[in-house]
Amino acid sequence: MKIPELKLRGLTAKIPIVQGGMGVRVSLSSLASAVANQGGIGTLSSIGLGDLKATKKDNEGISREALLREIGKARSLTDGLLAVNVMGALSNAADLVKTAVAGGIRIIVFGAGLPTRLPRICPDPDVNLIPIISSGRVARLILRSWESRYDRTVDAFIIEGPLAGGHLGFSVEQLKHPENYSLEGILSEVLEIIKPYEDRFGRRIPIIVAGGIYTGSDIGRMLTLGASAVQMGTRFVATDECDASDEFKQAYIAAKEDDIVIIESPVGMPGRAIRNEFLERLDRNGKTKVKCPYRCLTSCKAESARYCIADALVNSCFGDIDRGLIFAGRNAFRVKKITTVKKLVGELLAGLAAFGEGDPGAAPDRGAMAMPCREAGRDENEQGADVGGTEVRGGMIRAKFGREGETIHDDSLPRPPRREDPSLR
Ligand SMILES: Cc1cc2nc3c(=O)[nH]c(=O)nc-3n(C[C@H](O)[C@H](O)[C@H](O)COP(=O)(O)O)c2cc1C
Ligand code: SF4
Repeated sequence: MKIPELKLRGLTAKIPIVQGGMGVRVSLSSLASAVANQGGIGTLSSIGLGDLKATKKDNEGISREALLREIGKARSLTDGLLAVNVMGALSNAADLVKTAVAGGIRIIVFGAGLPTRLPRICPDPDVNLIPIISSGRVARLILRSWESRYDRTVDAFIIEGPLAGGHLGFSVEQLKHPENYSLEGILSEVLEIIKPYEDRFGRRIPIIVAGGIYTGSDIGRMLTLGASAVQMGTRFVATDECDASDEFKQAYIAAKEDDIVIIESPVGMPGRAIRNEFLERLDRNGKTKVKCPYRCLTSCKAESARYCIADALVNSCFGDIDRGLIFAGRNAFRVKKITTVKKLVGELLAGLAAFGEGDPGAAPDRGAMAMPCREAGRDENEQGADVGGTEVRGGMIRAKFGREGETIHDDSLPRPPRREDPSLR
């Protein structure tokens, strides 16, 4: 397959690969600049850059300065495309968006919360605003709300499917049956939903897909189904340039398939992580001591939280993994070695270039999207098998749906079309 560019508004990435924002401090200037130097989009995570011992007010200022410093460092290392990832569940989310834009960032990726006010926080038409979604329903909600309130549409969507690492936009129940929420199915639904908006706003809305993408041929399959690019997290963790500690990376290498588990999080969404001493202890004791000097999350109730996720993520990132949470994608157990970003991207592009050779049906074409799973020759069950070892730990904190900044998993998600659906024949 010819390697396509990813065209955003006013910006073009040479390759269709976005390195996902990974907090806390997993994707900072080193990783993001290395990916940008290979022609992809490198994403800086903006969470947890403050000082856990600071007060809420101090913390906002410290986070702001730290983010500007990281942007400056990344800029000194690359002329390529950089994005900043902001989690809507953060109490200083608006401040981080404004800071990133003031620091010259032209791509804001907004996840873990409904971006209802994002165009007001960042009205600059030169900044690409890219919400992360996990269902067609949330895509529709954002598109409608932005059009009616701001006469604006999204510059791209990132769809995170159920195999992704970090926080997930699905309920624990849904994650027990990920085959019902395949990335391919959600992609097909979202591609339909965006069509009238593309017509009305007179431009294409690229769809970037994430969650479980591991090889060049995975990328090829998604492009063939109508995605414009992929976002990847797990594979970029296992690189020299990744900003996390070596202990964090080694936990990926050591992980077995059934070590990859679903956990509850004070953010109000489930997350995927590697089973370790921290999670075992939490299971045994039910709770750890929680001190909350500032409310970093709007959704976290420190009095009842089982653990402080800010603390746990900072610990693991700095190498204290026995006291930390190690987020990872469903495919983290497949990682066998640490490599460089250059080698990893080279391997992915070689796989992508080889994808569909001699198969004219494999050319990227949105028009061919009507029959997602079957057209790709992919058995839906393949994904179910991938997640066979998923284990749900503890109860989950349910989140309602709809207000600004609320988490966006939704129990009534419409199911994507299934293979046996007669409308697909
Ligand atoms: C260690 C880790 C931390 C992550 N942190 C964040 C985050 O802070 N914000 C976010 O939007 N996504 C986060 N993610 C999700 C990634 O950006 C990406 O979408 C996802 O990992 C893609 O799935 P993959 O890991 O299977 O490639 C995280 C993922 C990992 C593995
Ligand atoms: S207890 Fe919750 S709100 Fe407080 S610092 Fe920890 S994660 Fe943030």
